[in-house]
Amino acid sequence: MSEPVKFVKNTVIVVFGASGDLAKKKTFPALFGLYREGYLDETTKIIGYARSHLTVEELRERIEKNLKTPKEEDKKKVDGFFKMVTYVSGPYDQDDGFIRLREEIETFESAKCTLEPHRLFYFALPPSVFLPVATNIKKLVYAEKGVTRLIVEKPFGRDLETARKLQADLSPLFREDEIFRIDHYLGKELVKNLLVMRFGNQFLNSAWNKDNIQSIQIAFKEPFGTEGRGGYFDNIGIIRDVMQNHLLQVLTLLTMERPVSFDPEAIRDEKVKVLKAMAPFDHKDILIGQYDKSEDGTKPSYLDDETVKPGSKCVTFAALAFQIENERWSGVPIIMRAGKALNEGKVEIRLQYKAVASGVFNTIPHNELVIRIQPNEAVYMKFNSKTPGLSNATQVTDLDLTYSSRYKDFWIPEAYEALIRDAMLGDHSNFVRDDELEVSWSLFTPLLNYLEGENAPQPELYPYGSRGPKGLRDYLAKHNYIIEEKHPYTWPVTTPNEE
Ligand code: NDP
Ligand code: BG6
Repeated sequence: MSEPVKFVKNTVIVVFGASGDLAKKKTFPALFGLYREGYLDETTKIIGYARSHLTVEELRERIEKNLKTPKEEDKKKVDGFFKMVTYVSGPYDQDDGFIRLREEIETFESAKCTLEPHRLFYFALPPSVFLPVATNIKKLVYAEKGVTRLIVEKPFGRDLETARKLQADLSPLFREDEIFRIDHYLGKELVKNLLVMRFGNQFLNSAWNKDNIQSIQIAFKEPFGTEGRGGYFDNIGIIRDVMQNHLLQVLTLLTMERPVSFDPEAIRDEKVKVLKAMAPFDHKDILIGQYDKSEDGTKPSYLDDETVKPGSKCVTFAALAFQIENERWSGVPIIMRAGKALNEGKVEIRLQYKAVASGVFNTIPHNELVIRIQPNEAVYMKFNSKTPGLSNATQVTDLDLTYSSRYKDFWIPEAYEALIRDAMLGDHSNFVRDDELEVSWSLFTPLLNYLEGENAPQPELYPYGSRGPKGLRDYLAKHNYIIEEKHPYTWPVTTPNEE
């Protein structure tokens, strides 16, 4: 993969929903990050658009505390950044605001742009206004002669039917190559590294299959509950919130076949193929939970959130076992698990290898490859080694790539920084294609219907701040994941682990 050109010049970026939370916390900080690192310059114009009446100063006040300025001198860059920003207030479903937006865009383009127009529209918007905004873009601010691109945020529907409807509404307006469906997990550094790690290392590549691997886990853990956002979450649940999208995207990159090239469509073709090989969920083989008060009573239960429906069966924890019915993975359990209000915040992938032949060893732990996506990015292989010195005892240690110590002077972009830049370059590799959505919703919709239907099962309660429902340990064991209790593992290694 070659390094792309540094600047994408002459671009107008319009952030719809500029007054909102996503724009404040993610979109503007990402644009600032790109500017700070030299990937945007003043040949770019950034226009915030929303209904609220705001001056640029007021917009700046909302955003500024979220901008990361790691070096003291970067603070000066904040002024430079806001010189690129203007704001247009207007409705989403009527012409007048869009006419003012067009004037703002055209004034900039005729004064500053030497190339054909390049307009990037970012939807930091609730789904209820997706369609009116898309329609007005097409009608009033579409670059007839240049390039128009739309970055749209999840949710891409809430089930198969609504996802199809959204797609049917958007497709007469925009071509698939104009749409960038963002799943910010695809912009995380270690997720972007998956294909290189897998296919660029023969020792991993050759053993990445059912003959060598006995279980795979993708785990998402958050240490906080809904904290007043329960009204939103109650209609969504953890499966829709992070599993059908973020974790499934990670899973496809982890399990797909080698693409013929790193061309975006070649990668996305392979993702779709592996999704199609996934077997339907077995509803009897899932573990679902909802958080209760913490054991010490200081943290509230899910149902204590006043914005949640009384008696809600909303799932805040789920562990789902997948089977991929293809030559590479047949028979290997793949567990996706995600939960709120757990004992820690962490997202990681774990591949546990099969045991080596016994004989010379009484017992020796399984190798395990851990790819920690966040926090503190790391890749480590749990690895058996002789205890140093005269001892012949074996010891579990690790081959460790911890980013913070290995890559001290590197700028690791935030997911949104990486993805906005990709969209500016027209690179779709890390965005979700329409057919991926179709297959993923086909997989998840029957499960969601079951969990949300009249006879929905009752999720098992687990204490706020715990690992999740009591049954988790057995569930992992049932799906071939062995917790190596006889070989406790400390890191960094300090004590020998005697055979
Ligand atoms: P752990 O021993 O913490 O956990 C191993 C796996 O077993 C996890 O999936 C864990 O789940 C699961 N598990 C453990 N106990 C239970 C239980 N009672 N019920 C259900 N699941 C359970 O991880 P490692 O062996 O990989 O690492 C040990 C420590 O060393 C970790 O803190 C790790 O971060 C650190 N380390 C860090 C490195 C680095 O930063 N580069 C390198 C090597 C190790 P769950 O995740 O939910 O706890
Ligand atoms: C979002 C979910 O898509 O992803 C949130 O709606 C979740 O509920 C978030 O907290 C997790 O993203 P990250 O980058 O913080 O892991």
